[in-house]
Amino acid sequence: DAVERGEYRHYMQKEIFEQPHAVSNTLEARIGASGVLPNIFGVGGDELLEKVKGVHIIACGTSYHAGMVAKYWIEDYARLPVSVEVASEYRYRESVVPEGTLFIAISQSGETADTLAAMRESRRRGYLGTLAICNVPESSVVREADLKLMTRAGPEIGVASTKAFTTQLAALALLTLHLARQRNLDEARHADLCAQLHRLPRALEEALKLEPQIIELSERFVHRHHALFLGRGAHYPVALEGSLKLKEISYIHAEAYPAGELKHGPLALVDEDMPVVAVAPNGPLLDKLKSNLQEVRARGGELIVFADSAAYIDDNATRGSILRIDAGGDFIAPAVFTVPLQLLAYHVAVLRGTDVDQPRNLAKSVTVE
Ligand code: G6P
Repeated sequence: DAVERGEYRHYMQKEIFEQPHAVSNTLEARIGASGVLPNIFGVGGDELLEKVKGVHIIACGTSYHAGMVAKYWIEDYARLPVSVEVASEYRYRESVVPEGTLFIAISQSGETADTLAAMRESRRRGYLGTLAICNVPESSVVREADLKLMTRAGPEIGVASTKAFTTQLAALALLTLHLARQRNLDEARHADLCAQLHRLPRALEEALKLEPQIIELSERFVHRHHALFLGRGAHYPVALEGSLKLKEISYIHAEAYPAGELKHGPLALVDEDMPVVAVAPNGPLLDKLKSNLQEVRARGGELIVFADSAAYIDDNATRGSILRIDAGGDFIAPAVFTVPLQLLAYHVAVLRGTDVDQPRNLAKSVTVE
């Protein structure tokens, strides 16, 4: 065990640090200088994807959050309607499946009972085809899907998923680019997105260098009972994933909101005992997010802002902590901003002395309902 963990104290920490490599493996031989290579989804994949008119994504836990990011991407760049649903809900209701809809199951293990059952149920509902995005090639989800794109994260031991998530994002980014190009995304924008994806492993590596600052920051969470995470756009699911990590391993109650919803409820909870973590990449929504942060500040809330190094955020305006991250571009930013949130959850849990790799009551793979 100690040999496998090497210099790291826990598998989770090791797996967080493996992300640049795991993501680079997932992209390897699948994207070239001018775009996604042919047939990366399996035999007949490109022809089937050509016919897609809409997408339904089904998953659980962290994999569900990856699906939520993909909704923003696919709708933005490929202009296809996407719905995302947790598998345990999907399987027990009669969803409407418009003609030409692709069913996508996202799963690290490929054995999650709800996801597998949802996929089997989808067969009855008349989809164009099924695509599995999965980390285990011999798993049931992969065996039963028409098309597959494997994440190449390698074995993930820590119960709280880390490298599986960022490799799922890499796989979903490939799918987005493929669908977008088939549907005539502007050539210059396509080239920019490809270049960003090529930069992703390097950007993740840079983000990992924030660890010493995050260790310092984590001290401010040790005695807290609650935390609020905010994001906008594709960073709302990133905020959800950050809050899930904190819950799972530190047992601090955490919730995530799309920042614009703050005024519709969660603001009532904000006081000096409530740390508020904001994911604030550069982009058209940054000004709106800043005004959301002012609302938190006005209520005495303690702000921790993960900001793009390219973005202008006045330290005075937040009166908290700002950690600067080079996101490497708007497309890949959700994957890059995930890293500091994973590190935060990890170091808070270490300080609280919890069993990081085996949190109470949770299982790595939930194979019963
Ligand atoms: C469990 C794990 C989570 C995981 C979820 C879905 O709850 O603890 O980390 O995200 O299952 O697992 P899957 O293997 O389907 O991605």
